[in-house]
Amino acid sequence: MKILGIETSCDETAASVVENGTTELAFVVASSKDFHEKTGGVVPEIAARKQVDFMIPVLDQVFKEVPKEEIDAIAVTQGPGLIGSLIVGIEAAKALALALDKPLVPINHLIAHFYANFISHNPADIKFPALVLVVSGGHTDLVLMHDHGDLQYLGGTLDDAAGEAFDKTARILDIASYLGGPQLSKLAATCKQNSVAGSLPRPLLNKDNYDFSFSGLKTAVKRLWAQNDFPVEEVACEFETAVVDVLVEKTIKAASDFSVQSILLGGGVSANTQLRSRLQLRAKELEIPLFLPELRLCGDNASTVASAAFYNFTPLSLEDFKRISPNPSLSITD
Ligand SMILES: Nc1ncnc2c1ncn2[C@@H]1O[C@H](COP(=O)(O)OP(=O)(O)OP(=O)(O)O)[C@@H](O)[C@H]1O
Ligand SMILES: [Mg+2]
Repeated sequence: MKILGIETSCDETAASVVENGTTELAFVVASSKDFHEKTGGVVPEIAARKQVDFMIPVLDQVFKEVPKEEIDAIAVTQGPGLIGSLIVGIEAAKALALALDKPLVPINHLIAHFYANFISHNPADIKFPALVLVVSGGHTDLVLMHDHGDLQYLGGTLDDAAGEAFDKTARILDIASYLGGPQLSKLAATCKQNSVAGSLPRPLLNKDNYDFSFSGLKTAVKRLWAQNDFPVEEVACEFETAVVDVLVEKTIKAASDFSVQSILLGGGVSANTQLRSRLQLRAKELEIPLFLPELRLCGDNASTVASAAFYNFTPLSLEDFKRISPNPSLSITD
């Protein structure tokens, strides 16, 4: 089954075709990131206007690789995300579904992040129950996946998401004004000896739950940075290590508490080198297979949307089809 995925939850306009949930036949991503760098954050109206501009060229490119007559279904991000951006993707998907007379599958963006692993690995190797850590720009959630479509929310961030904390800290440290997580991490990797090691808090690390909190950490960075003339790479490294300490230990705690058979990582921050390597070490100690998405599939893309649709395929009646509308605050358990 060949599914066309469409993703427009934030500043990307993406379309992909994935066969049977795992084989990518087309992958196109256009981003309006450059337009938001000047303002230091996404301007929702600009993001949506750019998606209007990009949508048809992106689809045209996909249909050059897979003729539209070969598409069996269309999947689209329903939320969470920016309302204007979601509208562009959903309306394009509805129009295509009507024109091609194919089923439409609405997909939760956060659940789509899980499916980067079903493309990056042999799906048969991913055994349930699996524990999923979604770490992205807007979310940090631990979810128990009993099966496709059978999810149990364990906990998540009470305030800032991990990616948001990376981006805000990159701004505090003058590393980058917009989406500075990757640059902060690159700089942190250059730190050989750290005079500030252990000086930042590890929020909720020893609490007996699966929740996270990163907003206080950002304030602590501000204080540390104002205190003295510490080299920026040392502060960046201490910040990254504090975040990774909490993410790794909470994930390992949940994995052992629920005796899972696999651990999956998803979302933009799953590209973080320290997180990947330290989680790999801890998972190995517990002898639980860890699945990491290919770097290209960590952030927002439409292959994950198409894969999620294959594994969670529910044909809609015409009435349900008419009712599909964007849900900017969709949660993982909705
Ligand atoms: N190597 C890295 N280290 C740390 N953070 C990173 C790295 N690469 C990307 N990120 C962060 O990942 C985030 C982007 O991820 P993603 O695109 O999944 O978020 P989003 O789609 O905006 O949010 P959500 O998925 O919650 O709706 C940004 O905060 C970015 O800084
Ligand atoms: Mg995302």
